[in-house]
Amino acid sequence: MATEASLEYVESYLSEDDHLAAARRRAEEVSVSPIGPAGGAALQFLASVLGAKAVAEVGTGTGVSGLWLLRGMASDGVLTSVDLEAENQRHAREVFTEAGIAPQRFRLIAGSALDVMPRLTDAAYDLVFLDGDKVEYGEYLQQALRLVRPGGVIAFDNALWHDRVADPTQRDPQTAAIRELLQQVANDERLRPVLLPVGDGLLAAQLIG
Ligand SMILES: C[S@@+](CC[C@H](N)C(=O)[O-])C[C@H]1O[C@@H](n2cnc3c(N)ncnc32)[C@H](O)[C@@H]1O
Repeated sequence: MATEASLEYVESYLSEDDHLAAARRRAEEVSVSPIGPAGGAALQFLASVLGAKAVAEVGTGTGVSGLWLLRGMASDGVLTSVDLEAENQRHAREVFTEAGIAPQRFRLIAGSALDVMPRLTDAAYDLVFLDGDKVEYGEYLQQALRLVRPGGVIAFDNALWHDRVADPTQRDPQTAAIRELLQQVANDERLRPVLLPVGDGLLAAQLIG
């Protein structure tokens, strides 16, 4: 099993450029918790091996995960990203633009995930990344199953939720919702899952095509 030192090594293995560093600074200013560097690299890797042309994201934040995703996607791929906070998305738009991402490659939709996701097109996305309200993760899964194309991947950040998921004495609503999600994904025969101990935990599952 990996030690704390190895997990830290994994996080620092790939360095982030000035644009990702700027997105992280803005995240700190507006009190948003972005995905860690290893999780970001995992998203970029997934987008790249899928040859992703369409990715949907819940929880734009200030654009850390979005920039990793955009860099892994096909050069004409489009990221559709939803966030309750238009102010967070203003930062993300600036980050993407400063990083040289063409404006037609990202569609930022301000609104609540459970209002917006039902309006997105069925089976149209190569990758669906969920990083919004943890209590809503089960409902995001139901929506994502409709949005992802066969062979595509659904991924959730914070799947280990600050070491609380693995601790049976922790029963707060977020931890309980994530545990429930992990069970649902493990038991769903349409999905081929993997739980990666990068950052705060990344759950990824391929929709068997
Ligand atoms: C953890 S941050 C996302 C960080 C981002 N994915 C990254 O790695 O850079 C969570 C974001 O989800 C948004 N959010 C929270 N609840 C939401 C909801 N119900 N619908 C849409 N967005 C939501 C918050 O405003 C916040 O920007």
